[in-house]
Amino acid sequence: MNLIEVRDYTEMSQKAAEYIIEKVRRIPNIKLGLATGGTPIGTYQNLIEDHQKNKTSYQNVLTFNLDEYVGLSGDNQNSYRYFMNDKLFNHIDIDKNNTFIPCGNVEDIEAECQRYEELIHHHGGVDLQVLGIGSNGHIGFNEPGTSFTSKTHVVNLTASTIEANARFFNSKEEVPTKAITMGISSIMKSKEILLLISGEKKREAMQKLLHAEVTESFPASILRNHPSVTIIADQAALAKS
Ligand code: F6R
Repeated sequence: MNLIEVRDYTEMSQKAAEYIIEKVRRIPNIKLGLATGGTPIGTYQNLIEDHQKNKTSYQNVLTFNLDEYVGLSGDNQNSYRYFMNDKLFNHIDIDKNNTFIPCGNVEDIEAECQRYEELIHHHGGVDLQVLGIGSNGHIGFNEPGTSFTSKTHVVNLTASTIEANARFFNSKEEVPTKAITMGISSIMKSKEILLLISGEKKREAMQKLLHAEVTESFPASILRNHPSVTIIADQAALAKS
C-alpha cells in the first residue's frame, strides 16, 4: 500500500482529485468506482472546479457506485443516487446513462444485487475504485464479519453506521436499516484502489489498517492483499492516539 500523507481534508481532497483527473485525462473511457459519505465531497468539488476551468471531460467515463440504501428511490434527497447527482454528476459533462448505482427501491432486491454485480463484470470491471472507510473498518457497507468472498449483497446496517450516517437525515429513525453494497470480492476485483482517510474519528481505523492482521472482523484489512492501493490520509487520521 502506498501512503500519501497530507496536512488536512482540503489537501486530501486536492490530491485525490489530481490523482483522478490525471487518470481520466490519460484514459478517457476509464471506469471509476465511486463512494458517497463526507470524505469524498471535497474531492468531487475539486473535480467540478477542474472541469469548469480546464475542461477535463467525462463524456466517455463510466462510474459504478459502491452502495445504495434499500427503500429509497433515486429522487429521495437521502439516496446515494441523489447525492451523486447533486455532488458531482450534475456539474460535469458525464452522460447519466453511464453512471451506475444499485437501485434501492426494486421489488426483488436479491435480483438487483446479481444484476449489479453482472453489470460491472459486463463492462470489464472497475479501473480505479475510490473508497472511504468507516471507523469500524467497513468499506462500502461491508460491516465487520462480512465474508471476504462476498459479492454485491444486501446488508443490515450496524447501530454504529446508522449513528454515523444520521447526520445526513432529520433523525436517526429515518436512516434506512438496510443497504445494497458491492461485496468485498467485488471491491477487490478493481484494478486499482484510492482510499481516502481524514479526521481524528478515523485514527483507530487508520492504525488497524496499517498494522493489524488481515481479518474479516476489520473489513478494510483485506486491502493489504490488493496489489495496487494508494491511501491519501491527513495528519488528524495519522496521529497516534
Ligand atoms: C460510502 C461508503 C462508506 C463510506 C464510509 C465513510 O459509499 O461506502 O463505506 O465511505 O462510511 O463515510 P464518511 O466518509 O462519511 O466518513
